[in-house]
Amino acid sequence: MRLTVNGRVHDVDAAPDTALLYVLRNDLALNGPKYGCGLGECGACAVLIDGVAARSCAIPIQGCAGRDIVTLEGLGSREHPDPVQAAFIEEQAAQCGYCLNGMIISTKALLTRNPHPSEADVLESLRYNLCRCGAHIEIVRAAMRAAGLVVEAQD
Ligand code: FES
Ligand code: FES
Repeated sequence: MRLTVNGRVHDVDAAPDTALLYVLRNDLALNGPKYGCGLGECGACAVLIDGVAARSCAIPIQGCAGRDIVTLEGLGSREHPDPVQAAFIEEQAAQCGYCLNGMIISTKALLTRNPHPSEADVLESLRYNLCRCGAHIEIVRAAMRAAGLVVEAQD
């Protein structure tokens, strides 16, 4: 199976019904996507497929050939983070951090399809991403910052 991930083409030796998450983590050493529920319900495993957020634990690789897959690693680097990643760093929006992959990927997908979302759009985009630490307030604020909805007070 040939997969394009973060702009690189990989020939993967795995059964067609293997979940994309396992191939990303186990074969390609891309550990940004996390295993949470394994049932498509929590969002920890999210990746972008053709710019749309998708839950890689629930997607067999046979549906991914010829698609443009981007993981958290493909968004930016430590030196040059994506603006969404930078916003999460700025807000220090995490406790354990396990859910952040999904939060950042979902925010990125939102901003790709709607560069000027409303607060309601941001809330809706994160609605089905779970955070067991209860860091939602900081996470939503980071997503708002990425969306340009956080304006710093002027001196
Ligand atoms: S691990 Fe994929 S949605 Fe929870
Ligand atoms: S910060 Fe721990 S699960 Fe969200």
